[in-house]
Amino acid sequence: MASQRKQPKPGKPKGKARTVYVLNGPNLNMLGLRQPEIYGRETLADVEALCRAAGDRLGLDIDFRQSNIEGELVGWIHEARTAAVGIVINAGAYTHTSVALLDALNAAEKPVVEVHLSNVYRRESFRHHSYISQAARGVICGFGPKGYVLALEALAEIV
Ligand code: DQA
Repeated sequence: MASQRKQPKPGKPKGKARTVYVLNGPNLNMLGLRQPEIYGRETLADVEALCRAAGDRLGLDIDFRQSNIEGELVGWIHEARTAAVGIVINAGAYTHTSVALLDALNAAEKPVVEVHLSNVYRRESFRHHSYISQAARGVICGFGPKGYVLALEALAEIV
């Protein structure tokens, strides 16, 4: 599937005051199947459920999305400028390649927390550099899906 996007719940206006965009990049739709020895057995739907539970606890409205398309992620980041109070992003491999995502995150002018499921510093050297870290308030990596919860906790304090 190229992209997954949840529609807002009926009766819930889009772009609420405490909406956080949780954006996931390429191949994260394969979580649970993809290299489970690195990424674990939990699926992206499990990660989304964790984020929603954390959002309820923290008073944040979670808009959770995944795309394999760089330009779609850029568009969502632009949208976040007006529709969200902050962004949690796991950009997948685009982390290590995408100046476009860095530029979009800078243009969004919202607090950003970068997340990686795996500890990228224990892996190949090409994963040690992140373009998007320059736009991030903080980076969380190596704690699996719990990293998303930690990122939301950090954002809840900032916003
Ligand atoms: C990842 C790490 C990236 O290097 C990789 O390309 C991914 C997932 C992580 O969550 O650990 O797709 O962002």
